[in-house]
This record gives sequence, structure tokens and C-alpha cells, in this order.
Amino acid sequence: MKSILINEYNPQKNGWEESVFHTANGYIGVRSCQEGGAQDGVFSVRGTYINGFYDEKDIAYGEKLYGFAETGQTIVNVTDVQTLEITIDGETFSLDKGTVLEYEHELYLDKGFQEKRIMWRSPSGKEAYIIIRRLASLVEKHLFMMSVRVVPNNFSGEVKIKSSVIGDVSNFADPSDPRVAAEEKSYLSVINAEFKDGNTAFIKSKTQRSMLELSCAVRHRSSTAKEEKHFALGNTLLSEYTYSASPNESITLSKYCVFVDSRRSEDTENSALSILNESFEHPMECFINKQIKYLEDFWSAARVYVDGRKLQRSMDYCLYSLLCSAGQDGITSVCAKGLSGEGYEGHYFWDTEIYIFPFFLLTAPEIAKQLLLYRYNILPKAREHAKIMGHSKGALYAWRSITGIECSAYYPSGSAQYHLTGDVAHAFIQYYLATEDLDFMRDYGAEVLIESARMWLDTGHYMNGEFRIDSVTGPDEYSCIVNNNYYTNCAAKENLLWAYKIVNILKKAGKDEDIKTRLNISEKELHSFKKAADNMYLPYDEELKINPQDDSFLNKKPLNLKEIPKENFPLLLHYHPLWLYRHQVLKQADTVLAHCLFEDSSDRETIKNSFEYYEKITTHDSSLSACAHSILASYLNDTEKALNYMLMSAQTDLEDTHKNTKDGIHTANMGGLYQSVVQGFAGLRIKESGLHLSPRLPKKWDEYAFNLYFKGRKISVKVNKKRVTLTLLEGDAINLYVFDEKIKLKDKEKINL
Ligand code: BGC
Repeated sequence: MKSILINEYNPQKNGWEESVFHTANGYIGVRSCQEGGAQDGVFSVRGTYINGFYDEKDIAYGEKLYGFAETGQTIVNVTDVQTLEITIDGETFSLDKGTVLEYEHELYLDKGFQEKRIMWRSPSGKEAYIIIRRLASLVEKHLFMMSVRVVPNNFSGEVKIKSSVIGDVSNFADPSDPRVAAEEKSYLSVINAEFKDGNTAFIKSKTQRSMLELSCAVRHRSSTAKEEKHFALGNTLLSEYTYSASPNESITLSKYCVFVDSRRSEDTENSALSILNESFEHPMECFINKQIKYLEDFWSAARVYVDGRKLQRSMDYCLYSLLCSAGQDGITSVCAKGLSGEGYEGHYFWDTEIYIFPFFLLTAPEIAKQLLLYRYNILPKAREHAKIMGHSKGALYAWRSITGIECSAYYPSGSAQYHLTGDVAHAFIQYYLATEDLDFMRDYGAEVLIESARMWLDTGHYMNGEFRIDSVTGPDEYSCIVNNNYYTNCAAKENLLWAYKIVNILKKAGKDEDIKTRLNISEKELHSFKKAADNMYLPYDEELKINPQDDSFLNKKPLNLKEIPKENFPLLLHYHPLWLYRHQVLKQADTVLAHCLFEDSSDRETIKNSFEYYEKITTHDSSLSACAHSILASYLNDTEKALNYMLMSAQTDLEDTHKNTKDGIHTANMGGLYQSVVQGFAGLRIKESGLHLSPRLPKKWDEYAFNLYFKGRKISVKVNKKRVTLTLLEGDAINLYVFDEKIKLKDKEKINL
């Protein structure tokens, strides 16, 4: 498997390197900052994050109207453990001093760690090879490790390594970009910073408003130091190791860093210290071996083989990053930037359910389940949010949040995106269809479907027999507060229908009693869901033969994107929202995405016309857009176009095409890249009838392949120029649909089509 490798240090790309090479495991994320600190004038965000560890702040408004979100949440930059100062015979190593003779930074996607290899010549001519490794354990989620090896090349003398644990940290801000927090702030206050037992650096901190506690315990292992000192400078704890150095003799130091927070543990201090003691028993190699084993299993289910080395590298990187971003504890989800940066303040959006969840559903259903449990666990908050938004019943998920409260300060493209609730419902439905886990639906899923259906019923209204939904915003944030957004209505329709269906399925299985009493649901109410679904109004334009994005979209002023200067993209940074809302211009796939997810709501001809219409006016200013266009282009058999969109998606972070990877990676796009092959080229859809595939191969490709889990089976899909091969790798015979034709895949059998 390829690694991600760069072989020069470019200060202009420092922020990008920090994000792309971040080290994470779904719990901890550490940006890959230069250990010795950033050079003057170089963009850097020295960040370490714990998924779901947040603080709160008031949202300030000039004019605050009823029901506006009042409290913002932000992921907190926590205790900094990544600082190491290396001094070579009196000269401190830094990339801007002396000469960097060699610089390589490599992330091993199959070994789960990264390594920086630097050959440095000091200003006085002493040369040393410095190798630094970082790992966030995929097995022991609270552990982040670093190791440093210094090998003198041409001198004998003294080497010192000073390692810090810094308690006073603050969050980053960029007031010029709405996608990043506007206010630089220090959210974490140190309660206690001390060395325990002489050599364990221990810092306990608390957030100011959410009152969450974090304990961080750090200890070093170094066999060859001739002297070691541990001392505190305010809230910074320093461990200094001194070595006698000779040419070609390695000096090594490993740093074990454990983080435990009060959302996961009642006694963060003792938990952190005991995890540290336990971890310290094992050398870093042991944790690397565990990573390798863990990743072997992960890749055996998750790897997507594509054609082209560069594309393969992007695909591997994206899927690896998704694994490292996903919360797996039912109280966290996937932040829009994973755990790689502070963009979007560590919030969870619909990105998880629509873009990322499908990947886990097909490759690691247990993780998919945890992501759904997060939504189930915040259902009480969604009920409160529905009330604030004026609903007499039901649940409405907040647009962006950590714990479930609405944190969006701009409701037109925030709270108004009601579709998120339909997206959550869609994920639960897909989970059920792919796993047949009816007990999960009884215990969790049905409640989410029913409560969200209640909200839709309360939001919409009947007019001339049709059920309509007014004043919402669809996925495209360049058209806000519209009536009958096609995407939203499709999502609501599915949600309402399945609230009705799931109770009937549970009833048939004799599992409905509990849910009916718990939610006080009557047959009448169930039928009202079905009626609204059956009569849902889905806009259709007779003249253009397309599904209009919403009731007013086609009446707006046309906009020729070719006439807009290149430097004015993304438009959101250059035009007032009202200007955007008045034009027929899209930030991202909207109806196009609806056609991917709800293809049976329209016929092929309409989908084709819609695609052609919207494609011309879509800016792809959001990274969530290109992949949806790729999937739909595949559906329309235009695999060349699909491949182009897929390449756009593949390049997002590794080539920084949106020019903001410095703020963090784009996780939704990463899930979208996966989908452009699986849902796109292979045409995979999970429907009530079963698993559907319509495999196509781009002309420029020789083949592609992937595995997937479906209803407890493991199935391999291979597509090349001659044939499509489906193999049942695990589990009993199963019926599948290939180009809508039913086939039976039996006992470890291969079927060539
Ligand atoms: C997109 C949203 C997305 C958010 C977080 C915005 O730019 O328009 O659809 O949820 O980014 O990724």
C-alpha cells in the first residue's frame, strides 16, 4: 500500500502539511506541527483535539430575534504535547537555521503511524539525522505517542532533547472566513500542573463554561540518557534529557501521552494515570504492530482498488482519514474537518449521515451503528430544538452542533436546513436495509423515524391535496428559505413513509408493543404519516422537464458562471448572501444529490435533464458537490464526466484545491470519493428489494474492485474490461440485483457477468 510522502519542506504549505499529516484515531487528533515550533511568519495552528470535547460561548447578534441560537460550541484546543526541542552540541535544531539537507514526511496508511526524516546541518556544520514518529493508537484510543531518534553524522558531543507538555493553549481564529471561528480564545484553564512520582508530567484542565475536565499524563522512555531533569515553568512541564553522542550511534526517546476527558470518564486523573502505566509497559513497536493488525482488518473490508497510482493514493488517504476521524462511542460523530483542524469548530453536520456513513455501513457496520447511536442519544436535544423552532411535536436535529444544541448563528443556511433530519432518517433506513437489525430499529431507529416524522407533519401543510413544506433551505446554501425544496421534500417523504413502515414491520415481528406505548403512537397517527408521504409534492417543471430545486428557483435571474472572475470564487467570500439568493446559482449539488439518493422519485429522462440544467450553474464552492456530480454522471452512463468529477474530489486535500486544507481536511468529500466508485461506477444502491448494482467502467480504466458487507455477507465486486465478477466471501447465499436483474450469489461462489 502506498504511503503519503512529501520530500521537501515548504513553509508556504506548513498549514496544509499540519492538516494532511495530522495523527488521529477518532478520539484524539494532533496536527502535525513542527516539533520545535513554527518559524516566524509561517501559518501554523498548533492544535490537539479530543472529539466532542468542547466549550460554550454566547453567540453575539446585532439584532436577536426569537428562537435564534444563543449558545455556540467549539472544539477546544487542548494540552500541547507535541513540543520537542533538540539541541545538537549547543545548537538548537530548527528548519530555518543551518541547512536542511534532506526532509521527508511520510504517513504509512497500512502501519498507522507517520515519520519525519530530516538530515540537518547546524550553522557550525554539525550534521545529524533526526527521525520523529507519531501515532494515535487505534486500539488504545486515549494514547498518542511520539518517538525521536537522533543519529549524529559527523560529530561527537552532547545532544539534549527537551520535551514539553504545555497547559496554556488557545483556539485559532480567522475573522475573515465564516468557515473558521471568528474569535481567538483560550477555553481551557489549568487546574493542576505537576510531576507525579518525579517523572510523569500531569496536567488537569477545565473548560470555562461547559465545565468539562481533561487529564493529560505524559511519561518518557529513554534508555541512553546520561542525565534527565523534570521541572515546571508555570503551566509548562519540561523533561530534559542529555546524551553523549557519537557518530552513527542512535539516541532515542519515546513520549507516551494519555488524554482522558470527563465526557468519557468519571475520574479522569486516575483513568489517565492507569492507562499511562499500562501503555508504558510496552514499547512503541508494540503499538505499531497493533496498528498494523487493526489496519489489516480495516483494509480487507474497506480498500477500494482504482485505476491509477495517484488516484489510488488519494483513495487510500481518504478512507484512512475517515477511519481516523470517526467517533465510535455513541456520544460523538465525525467533525466536518475530522480531528485535523478547527474549521467549522469541530461541529457535526449532515456530512456524516449522507457522505460518510455509507462508507462505514458497507465496510465497518459496527462504526456505522455508533454514528447512528450518536443521533439517537441527542434525540432529546432535537426535541427541544423542535420546540424552540415552534413545533408542537416531534424532533428536529440542529444544523451544526457537538452535543445536539443548535450552534448555527446564521439560520438561513443553518437551522433552516431541515433536510438534516431527513438525512438522519435516511441513514437509519439504509442501516436497517443493509443489516436487517430489527432489534436496533425497535430500540433506537423507530423512535428517531417517528419523532422526525412528527416534525415533518407539523412543518408542512396540505394545499389542493398535496403535502407541502415551506420556508426551508435545501443542501444548496446559495438559495435560502425556499418553498418545496425538491431534495427536502424527497427526504421528508421517505422519512414519513418509513415511520409508518417500521412500526408495521415491528408489528409483524411481534416487536411493536414497547415502541407504541413508549411513543404513544396510534394507528391514526401512523396513517397520517403515510398520507403525507403519499401526497408529498415534488416540484416538476413541464416545460424544462426537470425537477426545479424549489418553487421559485426557475424564476430567478440566470447567472453565467463564465462571466465571474476566477478570483471571486468561492462566491460566499465575495458576494452578499442576498445577491446569491437572487440568482440561479448553486454552491453545491442539491437536486443532483436528491437524484442520487432518491432516484426512484423521478424517471431517467427527468434526471438527465436536471443534471444538465444544474451542472452549468453549480460552482462546487462546497467540497460536497463534485462527488455527487460524479455519482449522477455514472448513473447517466457518462463515465468520462464521472471520472473528471471524481478526480476533482480526489484532489481536494492532497492538492489543496479549495485552498483551505490548512483549516482541516474535508471529511464529507472523502466519503464522497468512496461513493463515486461504489455508488457511482458500480451503481450500488441499497433498496427495500435488496442490493442493486449497475457496474460501469470508465473508458480510461482497466479495472476497479472493492468488498462490502451486506446483511452479514461479505461480497467482493470486481469490474474489468471483460467482466463483472461478484464473489461471496462470507455468509449464506443471497439474492442481488445487477442492472435490475435478480441473481443468486451462492456459497463462496463467483459469478461472472
Ligand atoms: C456546506 C455544507 C456542509 C458544511 C460542512 C458547507 O460549506 O455548504 O453542506 O455541511 O460546509 O462541511
